[in-house]
Amino acid sequence: MDFTEKDVVIIQKMIKISKEKPLLPKEFIPWSYEDKGDEIYLSDNLISIAGLKEYDQLSAEQKRELGRRELGQVMYSYAWSETMACAFFNRRLLKIDVHNLEYKFLLRETIEEYRHQSMFCDAIERIGVTPFPPSRLHKWIAKLTVMFAPDSIMFLSVLGIELATDFYGDVLRRDKSIHPVIQKVSVLHHIEEERHILFAKKWLKKYTENAGFVRRTIYAIIVVLNLYFMRTMYVRKEIFDKMGLINTKALYKKARRNLAVKFGRLCLSEVNAYVDSFNGWNAISRYLAKVFLKINIPKNDIVHA
Ligand SMILES: [Fe+2]
Ligand SMILES: [Fe+2]
Repeated sequence: MDFTEKDVVIIQKMIKISKEKPLLPKEFIPWSYEDKGDEIYLSDNLISIAGLKEYDQLSAEQKRELGRRELGQVMYSYAWSETMACAFFNRRLLKIDVHNLEYKFLLRETIEEYRHQSMFCDAIERIGVTPFPPSRLHKWIAKLTVMFAPDSIMFLSVLGIELATDFYGDVLRRDKSIHPVIQKVSVLHHIEEERHILFAKKWLKKYTENAGFVRRTIYAIIVVLNLYFMRTMYVRKEIFDKMGLINTKALYKKARRNLAVKFGRLCLSEVNAYVDSFNGWNAISRYLAKVFLKINIPKNDIVHA
């Protein structure tokens, strides 16, 4: 991949930071923090059923418990999707020369992503939950895309998910009532993901800049489908069952829809702006965004949930 002179300087700087100032979870996260017992694990606006009457009927302890379990599920999804990203990065690394700037950056990114996966696993253990693995369909789609999707589509998929999850993490970073371990995990992840996001945007410039209508539409659809793929891993009926809630089948349906609307409102502004930057929004992609992500993107690009 060829980068402009200006981009080369920025990428070299990011490689240097990654090497010289790595954020090591062992030092950065207060793993030995003594729990007081009233810590919140997931902000209300990210809990799948918060906002529904069923949520109001739960006790404060049940709300905390649901947040703990759903956070574990989100962290598992992060770790799993980063495993997918690493599988792709390794595939890409095999194709490029070790002297290449892209090789050097991707190597740093892969190291950081493996560290993140380990950090998410430790965080899941720390909060004491056993999350549920992705569905068979999720696993099957992941396997096929990592094996066969073109590099540009893979970079775009990784970027779309990073942009949305970064915003999700932003909510956890800012909420002062969140458990300090989870808060610091979110801070660390945000700092390192910023570099990955910047690199992916620069890498994709060659593909998005002069793309015609068909390619722009495909790119926008890929972003939409990736976010749908990611979000559908967050809500699990099994969690409601384990907690002994009633009528869990109906509750699960409501929870999926409720989270979809909140997710669209909270987490997708960066994604919208990115798709807009390469003129990816048109009647087709806007329609699919409405169906899959429950967001309305008007023609003047002002985003409404
Ligand atoms: Fe990461
Ligand atoms: Fe990343």
